[in-house]
Amino acid sequence: MIDLSDKQSLINEILKLKKEKDAVILAHSYQTADIQEIADVIGDSYALSKYCTKVKEKTLVFCGVHFMAESAKILSPEKTVLLPEKNAGCPMADMVTAPELRAFKKMYPDAAVVTYINSSAAVKAESDVIVTSSNAVKVVSNMKEKQIIFCPDKNLGAFVAAKCPDKEFILWDGYCPVHNKMIKEYVYAAKEKYPEAKILVHPECPSDVCKLADFIGSTKEIMEYASKTDYKAFIVGTEQGVLHPMSRDNKGKKFYLLSEDLVCEDMKLTTLDSLYRCLLTGSYEMDLDEEIIQKASKALNRMIELASK
Ligand code: 13P
Ligand code: SF4
Repeated sequence: MIDLSDKQSLINEILKLKKEKDAVILAHSYQTADIQEIADVIGDSYALSKYCTKVKEKTLVFCGVHFMAESAKILSPEKTVLLPEKNAGCPMADMVTAPELRAFKKMYPDAAVVTYINSSAAVKAESDVIVTSSNAVKVVSNMKEKQIIFCPDKNLGAFVAAKCPDKEFILWDGYCPVHNKMIKEYVYAAKEKYPEAKILVHPECPSDVCKLADFIGSTKEIMEYASKTDYKAFIVGTEQGVLHPMSRDNKGKKFYLLSEDLVCEDMKLTTLDSLYRCLLTGSYEMDLDEEIIQKASKALNRMIELASK
């Protein structure tokens, strides 16, 4: 009899089931410390997407939110892709629907649609190219089109627009409710409390907050910056989950969260219990319409191509 209330027994069972089901566990860096520790791969949205195209195992278990598991299925349609928590969604991804985007495109017939990976498969299928926070500037710079509809994140869109002054941007009015809550006053207060610390923020934060930062980057870029520089203290303006690997891998450095509000409830839904149940029962399995997969994979693969140029 297995005692699943004992954490170590639960971990052992997950590892056993993973082997039996020929599965690999992927986790976004906003997941809880427990999930990050048991995952085979941890990363930002781009690193995880690239990983999905090279997986050897039959089954991918995506510890993250719905659009991430969908993207994995689009990039590896022949694999079984599982999302442990059915209700783990992304409120920003829900801020644009395919019919809304279709209607919007009609107003700007010459514009290319650049869509943040934080979007549904149906929205990706309506897009010319997908971007993540770590490759958006590079992808857009490598595009020949001059007019860009950028959706759904207006903050990331403004960040990219500032780096690509030769293009005209039409920004969708979406945002991440977690990062968008950040305000300049939080930065001033943190700077006063920890004057020696460098400010690192995610481009999903509003632009007036980004302007005060020493470094702006995706979760992975923020983590790399903290590891590579000699600075010893950092104020981190992204979701709280990144503090776990940052503190673990940078002994002697100090990390402070810009605000206690930097917690994505959806990302925290996945637990060792739900991961265990997912491996045991095979749910929830991603199942996408063939035509959506075809169209969305074109836009996602264009991202990978333009980001590698
Ligand atoms: P990245 O993983 O690209 O940094 O994106 C952050 C995010 O909000 C994921 O939902
Ligand atoms: Fe969506 Fe923001 Fe949560 Fe990322 S952190 S999943 S963008 S709500």
